[in-house]
Amino acid sequence: MGVEIQVDDLTKSFGKQVIWRDVSLTVPAGEICVMLGPSGTGKSVFLKALIGLLKPDKGSIVIEGTDIATCSEKDLYEIRKLFGVLFQDGAMFGSMNLYDNVAFPLREHTRKSESDIRNIVMEKMDLVGLVGAEDKLPGEISGGMRKRAGLARALVLDPEIVLFDEPDSGLDPVRTAFLNQLIVDLNAQIDATFLIVTHDINTARTVPDNIGLLYHKHLAMFGPREMLLSSEEPVVRQFLNAQRIGPIGMSEEKDAGDLAAEEGQELPPLPPIPLQLDPSNGIPRRSQREPGGWCREHGVTPPPGSFEGQFASVASSP
Ligand SMILES: Nc1ncnc2c1ncn2[C@@H]1O[C@H](COP(=O)(O)OP(=O)(O)OP(=O)(O)O)[C@@H](O)[C@H]1O
Ligand SMILES: [Mg+2]
Repeated sequence: MGVEIQVDDLTKSFGKQVIWRDVSLTVPAGEICVMLGPSGTGKSVFLKALIGLLKPDKGSIVIEGTDIATCSEKDLYEIRKLFGVLFQDGAMFGSMNLYDNVAFPLREHTRKSESDIRNIVMEKMDLVGLVGAEDKLPGEISGGMRKRAGLARALVLDPEIVLFDEPDSGLDPVRTAFLNQLIVDLNAQIDATFLIVTHDINTARTVPDNIGLLYHKHLAMFGPREMLLSSEEPVVRQFLNAQRIGPIGMSEEKDAGDLAAEEGQELPPLPPIPLQLDPSNGIPRRSQREPGGWCREHGVTPPPGSFEGQFASVASSP
């Protein structure tokens, strides 16, 4: 079913360095959210705060009635069982084969027999297409396979919330397309709440139900996919369309001179909003909205050409 994460007024700093302040958002139960932001804006720190690995200075993170920003270690230990996490670097144990890596959380957190563990591990290996690679060491496989192994491990405890930190970094475009399809199919199948940090604009535009953007120490915007993809807000528009013109510069913020030089330059029109990626069996996910639904409800005219034609995903091509 998935559970909701309610974040209110969250602020985090390291010493004098404020990472972000007053972040408030609701990650809806069972939906897919993507969090974007320039490098170093604290996306990984945000995910770590959500699982209680880093304590915020202020604010609350409420999951099933427990505020993990202030709860006891014992409550945190229980809440963490709801999570599956795919870390940015895969975080595999290099000396363990894939089977033992994936089995690790089960051996650590449950009292299941080895035969039960085998069933669960093989089911998840099958889900991510890694059956046959159980005996390989992480160093012997490709980056894409390591990501999938990390995903299998994130799923063994049947999480209600899955956090993905750049699942697609370092993957080629075809592997990224397969991984995106896998994420959508998984969400349809296990119905958990997904939060994905990514730099891949195509992923951000086609996979999630909701998009957030962290920029300049705050949450610039968070909401339904169509809301951000039709937004004229300069930072959102620049980031979601990968443009150089806008407030974001090479070192996060442009100075006044650079911005003044851009004045009067015409922005290219917003590109069409693509269709959202469907599960490969064609049955919409429970949280999936109909194409153009948000725009219609809010009286927003989407850019010309939006929602037309089939999004050319790898899985849907012959
Ligand atoms: N444990 C820590 N102690 C001190 N500073 C930290 C710690 N973890 C992260 N930071 C700082 O917080 C800032 C945000 O880091 P974070 O890793 O969350 O960025 P990010 O948005 O995930 O970037 P990227 O897209 O490159 O992965 C950085 O300036 C980093 O140096
Ligand atoms: Mg990061």
